[in-house]
Amino acid sequence: MSFVQGRYQSSSAAQTEKLGGELAERLAPGDVVLIEGELGAGKTTFVRGACRALGVAGAITSPTFTIGNRYRAPVAVSHLDLFRVAGLAAEEPDLLADYLGSDTIAFVEWPKAERETIAAFARVAALVRIEHRGGDERLVEIA
Ligand SMILES: Nc1ncnc2c1ncn2[C@@H]1O[C@H](COP(=O)(O)OP(=O)(O)OP(=O)(O)O)[C@@H](O)[C@H]1O
Ligand SMILES: [Mg+2]
Repeated sequence: MSFVQGRYQSSSAAQTEKLGGELAERLAPGDVVLIEGELGAGKTTFVRGACRALGVAGAITSPTFTIGNRYRAPVAVSHLDLFRVAGLAAEEPDLLADYLGSDTIAFVEWPKAERETIAAFARVAALVRIEHRGGDERLVEIA
């Protein structure tokens, strides 16, 4: 993780996807990546780049009717969006267990309030924060 850790300026969706891809190359099964940022910051864009780099084929879109999507790839990949699920800790923990596991690399959008819940399930490998900087500019922080 040490290489990719830091603060990056992104000027396009493609650049943010590339950052996602660079982080993805350093991940291993069981890793969970948390992605924070406002509405439209580019969280899903970042995850799309990461999923592509991990060998996910086909469309990579936000989960809509479920909290997450699962993708088949050399290593299974999950993409969760907890934006709409407030107070997950009080919910059925099995909801998360379907998407996290030692055989899976998982990306989770909007975890701020849910950090501890997720940390109890899996090793958090990286925390990504994306901030609007006007127009297409974004600040992407990987820690
Ligand atoms: N530098 C950039 N990085 C990422 N996305 C960008 C950038 N510049 C413009 N965009 C555009 O901003 C939008 C980001 O949408 P995206 O769905 O990735 O955000 P999100 O943070 O996942 O939003 P949500 O909170 O709805 O889940 C896309 O339309 C993308 O093309
Ligand atoms: Mg999103």
